[in-house]
Amino acid sequence: MYVYDQVDRNLVNERVAQYRDQVRRFLAGDLSEDEFRPLRLQNGLYMQRYAHMLRVAIPYGLLSATQLRMLASIARRYDRGYGHFTTRQNIQYNWPRLEDSPDILADLASVEMHAIQTSGNCVRNITSDEFAGVAPDEVLDPRPLAEILRQWSTFHPEFAFLPRKFKIAVNGAEEDRAATAFHDIGLYLRRGPDGEVGMRVLVGGGMGRTPVIGPVIRDFLPWQHMNTYVEAILRVYNRYGRRDNLYKARIKILVKALGAEEFACQVEEEWVLTRDGPDTLTDQELARVSAYFAPPDYAARPADDAEFNRHASENAGFARWVGRAINAHRIPGYRAVVLSLKKTGVPPGDATAEQMDLVADWSERFGFGEVRVSHEQNLILPDVRANDLFTLWEEARHAGLATPNLGLLTDIIACPGGDFCSLANAKSIPIAEAIQRRFDDLDFLHDIGELNINISGCMNSCGHHHAGHIGILGVDKDGEEWYQVSVGGADGSQAGRGRSAIGKVIGPSFKADDMPDVISRLVDIYLEQREADERFIDTVARLGVAPFKSGVYGSPLRASTENREGAENREGAAADV
Ligand code: HEM
Ligand code: SF4
Repeated sequence: MYVYDQVDRNLVNERVAQYRDQVRRFLAGDLSEDEFRPLRLQNGLYMQRYAHMLRVAIPYGLLSATQLRMLASIARRYDRGYGHFTTRQNIQYNWPRLEDSPDILADLASVEMHAIQTSGNCVRNITSDEFAGVAPDEVLDPRPLAEILRQWSTFHPEFAFLPRKFKIAVNGAEEDRAATAFHDIGLYLRRGPDGEVGMRVLVGGGMGRTPVIGPVIRDFLPWQHMNTYVEAILRVYNRYGRRDNLYKARIKILVKALGAEEFACQVEEEWVLTRDGPDTLTDQELARVSAYFAPPDYAARPADDAEFNRHASENAGFARWVGRAINAHRIPGYRAVVLSLKKTGVPPGDATAEQMDLVADWSERFGFGEVRVSHEQNLILPDVRANDLFTLWEEARHAGLATPNLGLLTDIIACPGGDFCSLANAKSIPIAEAIQRRFDDLDFLHDIGELNINISGCMNSCGHHHAGHIGILGVDKDGEEWYQVSVGGADGSQAGRGRSAIGKVIGPSFKADDMPDVISRLVDIYLEQREADERFIDTVARLGVAPFKSGVYGSPLRASTENREGAENREGAAADV
């Protein structure tokens, strides 16, 4: 993985010292709340419902064992013993004290981490495929290009005050595991007609109150032009983005207003000024950065491991976990393992300090000391030897990290919602838990098959509800919490057959107590209607939402569903975060 040089180290250390002084001055009363606010936000420190929240960047979701141990240590020392992994491959701490925040940032800096640009109207953490470098379907490892973009965008003076925050995702595999179509810029690496490497460029996707699937503005951009082209996009956005209206400030609104074609023309016009200039990437630069991501020292191993096969045939629990949690690896005898952070009763994405320490240990014992974070809010060990899988499973089971539910209904994505977030209209975590409890029968879960449920506590869509096969959105009605349900969303991954789609709302919203029943009904309709091996999302695609709507609303649910008008259109407050 990328290792800081002296310049990087100075940069983060100087930032820590500067921030330490800012906190000191604020606590001494020399800086007002208004003066201090932008300073803390520039270092990832938000003010939330009950406490501060610190967001730490995990570039393209890649962590070393050392870094993960430090995240554990911070959770233990300065927080309540856990951290929350997010859909943007970051980690958030929900209870840090302002007084401790400079020390936390200093601890992070000691392991080459920081919270710079995790807030504010700048280029945020760049996300990517959690299986980068090991996936058999990879066209090109996205990490070197993501790292180049990270270096380019960090502290970029021209793009520090964009009209709104800016999210870039890079995907290097056949399957889109980075939800590129839902980002401000999605870069989808692929080969051109002569085998040359480049990328499809999507711009103006996003979720929020106006969900948009990003249109392709260039089908093939040779990789050498990545920086100058992204710069041209950002320049057009910086110049014409709607700074007058917070709700219309994202690039998706500009692209929609101009039309993708006109937007693309403006980008090309801007690009003429820098194209082939000094910022054009060279083979040498790509080689320099790629060297950090060179494959580890894989041992020659048999593709098929006898011991592994024996365990899988003798132990149904192990076989079930293998079926869900193990991904193919490009090197024979190795597997990529997904550790589920979706055990019933634990908020999706939460990991305790003990769990983080264990995962760090396993990454070293069974692999090469690397861990990944997925946008589904799970952790990944990318390089596990096949003959270690059984031992790993036994240990992971005891640690509560081997729930065999990956890709299934209880592998729920959820934002922190009303339990923590001050923007929330409704809680997310208890809804996730109630649904998980209703579907705690593993056989039934496996019979239902792949089904993503995504939950957001407000329109800001941090829980990706628009892209959920079933999406749940918290809405407010006269101070009460209601939930609007959509079906048919998909994030571009194979779980939705490679489609990106925005879920359709099926009707008026429900009370929290209704939600497990609503999900049960949707599942029943699917089970009645499905053909052969059809997944939930395919049944929705074939039949549309009508049967789901009538099945859910056809007869009264257990709890009350009256008086819902108005609740559906209430939008979550968007803040400057
Ligand atoms: C608790 C503190 C949080 C606050 C205050 C917050 C705030 C926001 C706001 C205001 C937006 C809407 C921005 C816009 O559309 O212009 C947003 C979007 C988003 N946030 Fe959060 N968020 C928080 C936590 C999270 C968490 C925990 C996650 C991941 C689980 C997350 C991931 C996202 C994503 C993926 C989007 C959608 C981006 C898009 O529309 O393209 N956020 N957030
Ligand atoms: S979706 Fe809304 S409630 Fe959930 S974390 Fe984002 S801003 Fe908060």
